Amino acid sequence: MVVSAHPIASQVGAEVLKFGGNAVDAAIAVHFTLAVVYPAAGNLGGGGFTVFRNASGKTFTLDYRETAPSAAYRDMYLDSLSEVEAKKSQLGHLACGVPGSVDGMFTLHKKFGTLPWSHLLAPAIRLAKNGFLLTKKEAGALNQNQENFRKYNTVIPEFFMRDTWKEGDTIVLKDLATTLQRIADFGRDGFYEGETARLIHEEMQRGGGWISPEDLKSYRSIWREPFSFGYKNYQITTMGPPSSGGVALAQLFGIFDKFPIGSWGVDDARTAHVMTEAMKLVYADRAKYLGDPDFITVPSNELTGENYLSGRVKSINMKSAAKADDIEAGVLLNESEQTTHFSIVDPIGNAIASTTTLNGGYGNKVVVAGAGFLLNNEMDDFSIKPGVPNMYGLIGGEANAIAPGKRMLSSMSPTIVEREGKLYMVIGSPGGSTIITSVFQAILNVIEFDMHMQGAVDFPRFHHQWRPDILQYEPERFNERQMSRLQNLGHELKMREPYGRVDAILALEDGRLEAGADPRGDDFAVGY
Ligand code: DON
Repeated sequence: MVVSAHPIASQVGAEVLKFGGNAVDAAIAVHFTLAVVYPAAGNLGGGGFTVFRNASGKTFTLDYRETAPSAAYRDMYLDSLSEVEAKKSQLGHLACGVPGSVDGMFTLHKKFGTLPWSHLLAPAIRLAKNGFLLTKKEAGALNQNQENFRKYNTVIPEFFMRDTWKEGDTIVLKDLATTLQRIADFGRDGFYEGETARLIHEEMQRGGGWISPEDLKSYRSIWREPFSFGYKNYQITTMGPPSSGGVALAQLFGIFDKFPIGSWGVDDARTAHVMTEAMKLVYADRAKYLGDPDFITVPSNELTGENYLSGRVKSINMKSAAKADDIEAGVLLNESEQTTHFSIVDPIGNAIASTTTLNGGYGNKVVVAGAGFLLNNEMDDFSIKPGVPNMYGLIGGEANAIAPGKRMLSSMSPTIVEREGKLYMVIGSPGGSTIITSVFQAILNVIEFDMHMQGAVDFPRFHHQWRPDILQYEPERFNERQMSRLQNLGHELKMREPYGRVDAILALEDGRLEAGADPRGDDFAVGY
């Protein structure tokens, strides 16, 4: 079964499985297909994380997060008065980190792939060359971004063949097809060296970006120790630093474990109150302690330890909501809106959870001229000035300051859950700062509130990230009674448009697989 953000990509993945490929083969084909049919987030010019659990239960996590260019420095987005020039970390050439996705796919393939590399790129190349039909959502998103595309590109990209795109239009991406062919022919060298690298370098020079040929050549993905923790009779394996997802999820589950939420139920105001209070505490820690483990010491064990979390649990007041100003990151005693996720389980039980991103929709909006793919604006995930919020409202400090070659802190949380040693769930989501709380709620909806996988994904969500001090919720998440109880407890509530795209697979006792494809997007499940 394959669940991804686009029907064509899910179909391509399922074909690879039917052809005899394993989950990793399918993931590579899905990744490259998304780079064509879902250009808002699917990518060659971005980065991501993959969690893989093989059929015998061993887990692996691959980090192909972008890095800051070697010319980057801490205050690179501050002007002469030390004020933030926010747009520079979000739009245009300077917002771009050194892309990791192609190296990530190549590294995955080298270790676990079974079908030939070029076979896995073939569907993406065919779609880029021959064209594919735009969905309504994709046409709308392209139209919305026309102005930015015009503004930030040095050469008008293929996306401008028409002023207005509509559902069912065919889009052909010839330059992208050629780039994909080079990757098919030469592997990682087809991107990080030779013609593609030359085109990226020229693009940087025309637009004032800082990624050098040496930055590209030296980029490497990293196999990280899988980040794993227990909750009741479940074992949850997800992404450790440089993602904040693993630590945050371990803290949320650890705090939650101390409350009888299963018996309170999903619609109880106490459940929502405890969840919100836990979210605030977790995001306060995230802002202070999390960053790239190759540059700073991340106190993951301390932050998720029993003692530390019981202190956090005690600080939760059941009678009133804590104010963000009164919350601080804990004192450690022992100091030592665009992304895409897909989930795949193959016939022998290998499972893969992959989340990859350009950061914002269409990244920094810059298409590498002649190479046909978009670049990321991941630099905005660094803390560009202590206490100044990024595009997702997240703040940070020293731990996540910019440094050459450093990976910016992420919230992406591809996750695999086991129950009593057996594969149980494969899950993840886009949504910037909301990724962690979306994944958390969808898992709880199944294991605590007895929902089916699709119901758990559909169910409206809420989110608090400490700052701003607002409990954001999707329409219909809370009924009148819950709303007034939460307000009485002192929560400031604000409705927001539906967010996140949770794509998940649940492995049932009898061996069948149940999909959850998020109705908030074009997300689609294909199984057989
Ligand atoms: O790595 C991160 O946490 C962000 N760059 C993810 C951005 C994202 O999910 C946007 N999606 N809507």
